[in-house]
Amino acid sequence: MAENFLATARKAAKSAGEFIIDNLGNVSKKDISVKQASDFVTRIDKESEQIILGTIREIYPHHHFLTEESVKDSETDEYRWIIDPLDGTTNFIHGYPVFSVSIALQYRQETVLGVIFDPCRNELYHAEKGKGAFLNDTPIKVSHIIGLSESLIATGFPFRQKNLVDKYLELFKNIFNKVSDIRRAGSAALDLAHLAAGRCDGFFEIGLSPWDIAAGSLLIEQAGGIVSDFGGGSEYLLTGNIIAGPPAVHNALAKEVKQVFRDILTK
Ligand code: IPD
Ligand code: CA
Ligand code: CA
Repeated sequence: MAENFLATARKAAKSAGEFIIDNLGNVSKKDISVKQASDFVTRIDKESEQIILGTIREIYPHHHFLTEESVKDSETDEYRWIIDPLDGTTNFIHGYPVFSVSIALQYRQETVLGVIFDPCRNELYHAEKGKGAFLNDTPIKVSHIIGLSESLIATGFPFRQKNLVDKYLELFKNIFNKVSDIRRAGSAALDLAHLAAGRCDGFFEIGLSPWDIAAGSLLIEQAGGIVSDFGGGSEYLLTGNIIAGPPAVHNALAKEVKQVFRDILTK
């Protein structure tokens, strides 16, 4: 199926990533706007998005899009690309070298292709439904860890939903007491890609957007992992509340999440 889709997504992600790296350290105050408290967008996010849109539209002018910065086509049974042109904007603004480009393609509302590019390490992750997951064209798998005690867990803080901070911290504490350690690196897409490659063993976050997680969740599933919403169901693209990991770690994290969020977030 996706020979040309994959080639196009890879080309778009690489061009955007190279543009982002060329501008690292070049962002001035006038390039930054505030979307809401603690949530920034830069000229680079917007231009990166135009590079991606231009690359895809040149070949697929009739496809639909859901992008973080400019296009919000609704769900369709046709092809729809879901794009985060710069995941980890706060890191990028500070020159903290953890950010990525995330591109997914849906067909009949199902994600069939995911590409995540880490321009700082020149690492390109891709997955196509039914064909496995790859890092720079080498197959990847989630880790074999079966217990929480040896696991390294990634997460993100709910900085857009500060009303949930106390609950989040309760969950954080419960999980922290059971695992080896926890990381908050600042790019959810890259967290998911690292999980697919077995570089960390679990992930949970509240209130993400489809463009943060569409590509990464396919990578994880194709690498042998499980992805769910906070109730253990499959509505994580809708709710933005996500738990992921190899089966045993996913299930252990889901149990912890249920205990703390049972009453307020069922999905
Ligand atoms: C953000 C990053 C971060 C996550 C936030 C996302 P952005 O994306 O993925 O890790 O915690 O919730 O919004 O805004 O830098 O594209
Ligand atoms: Ca993002
Ligand atoms: Ca972004």
